Amino acid sequence: MSRANWGSRLGFILAASGSAVGLGAIWKFPYVAGKNGGGVFLLAYLACVFTVGIALLLAEMVIGRAANRSATTAFRDLKGGLWPWAGRLSVLCIFIVMAYYSVVGGWVIAYIGKSITGEALGQDTKALGAAFTHFIADPASSLFYTALFLGVTVAVVLGGVQKGIERMSKVLMPALFLLMLVLIARSLTLPGALEGVRYFLTPDFSKLTSAMVVDALGLAFFSLSLGMGIIISYGSYVEKETNLAGATLWISILATLASVLAGFMVLPAVFAFGVDPAAGPGLTFITMPAIFAQMPFGQAWAIAFFLLLLFAALTSSVSIVEPIVSYFIDEFGWKRQSAAYITTVAVFIASIPAALSFGPMAKSKLFGRTAFDLMDYATSNIMMPAGGILVAVFAGWIIWPRIHSELLSNGGGHWIPAFRGICAIVAPIMIGVIWVHNL
Ligand code: PFF
Repeated sequence: MSRANWGSRLGFILAASGSAVGLGAIWKFPYVAGKNGGGVFLLAYLACVFTVGIALLLAEMVIGRAANRSATTAFRDLKGGLWPWAGRLSVLCIFIVMAYYSVVGGWVIAYIGKSITGEALGQDTKALGAAFTHFIADPASSLFYTALFLGVTVAVVLGGVQKGIERMSKVLMPALFLLMLVLIARSLTLPGALEGVRYFLTPDFSKLTSAMVVDALGLAFFSLSLGMGIIISYGSYVEKETNLAGATLWISILATLASVLAGFMVLPAVFAFGVDPAAGPGLTFITMPAIFAQMPFGQAWAIAFFLLLLFAALTSSVSIVEPIVSYFIDEFGWKRQSAAYITTVAVFIASIPAALSFGPMAKSKLFGRTAFDLMDYATSNIMMPAGGILVAVFAGWIIWPRIHSELLSNGGGHWIPAFRGICAIVAPIMIGVIWVHNL
């Protein structure tokens, strides 16, 4: 069977970075860093990305390209036995991720609307916070916007990812970075902003806890789209000549840069406006509008910001839905269209408890967490690390000769032993220890 390929190496890097750079970097990173003490979290995060993260990113890409199939089929073709279950686990994981990702994607769409009417903007962060809390608590609008975000995602998936997303990424990703730079300039020049910069850059090691390191590792996995077979399926579309190691480096750098820039955009403003940095998921939606209100043409900036955030979220959500759809196509021979519609309806049903977690179901908790938090926690902090260990062991031990020859065919490099060491030993131990310690 002949399979689609990316149009170019750049297109592949942008599409994979598009999957990486999304709500994780811009919405999640600042509030998780804010909650975990700032600087020390940044350090832990960078350490996770540039050791285990980068190695697993490469491992997933190589597995995908070697098998030329998406996760479940790749595990079966390369090894068989129980390994395809690692692929099924990843499909389950991204299904859950999509259920709560859509809720936040819905908030972004709503905030585009609220920026157009001007309702989103304001100087008073208390009032903005109250408006945000009020908005996400409303069941009807939460469900409506969640469905809308899912609908847009599936429209893109149906319309063909490659051309649409690849082409759009080339324009909109650079636009997103540029806009962030402008907003950082505004955020940093607010009175009192330096306190936030200090918070973000000065590590306070007394805040170092195992729970924080689990958060850092989980967020690194989430931001790099790791441990869920996504990069395996993206890797399966890569040409044999493409140097995967170089692409990996680029993707990790772009994804990290986006997170760090988002930190510089949000945290200084948090301090300037006296918002609690541990305020949680609402942080971006409260501080950014306060920044816009302090800028000339603030409303236009607000619209641009939420539009680009929506785009960043879409390039990610498409990468989440696509492997679910292709799982049903590859494994059960479903038609693309029916697979896409059935997936969407199922994700929507799963997203209902997440969408209601801030309103009618705020008090329904399991393990002390709302449905939204539980979905986030179970995927980022449990399933993704588990997927990561499986990929590391698979690449570092089970099919190492195959991985090795795939890397050599791109010219190899002195880093190969280090890469194997991380996959075979460091990653499983590090993830395992952090994980067990936290449980
Ligand atoms: N990496 C994306 C982000 O940071 O927003 C989110 C994501 C994409 C998570 C793909 C999981 C995934 F499989």
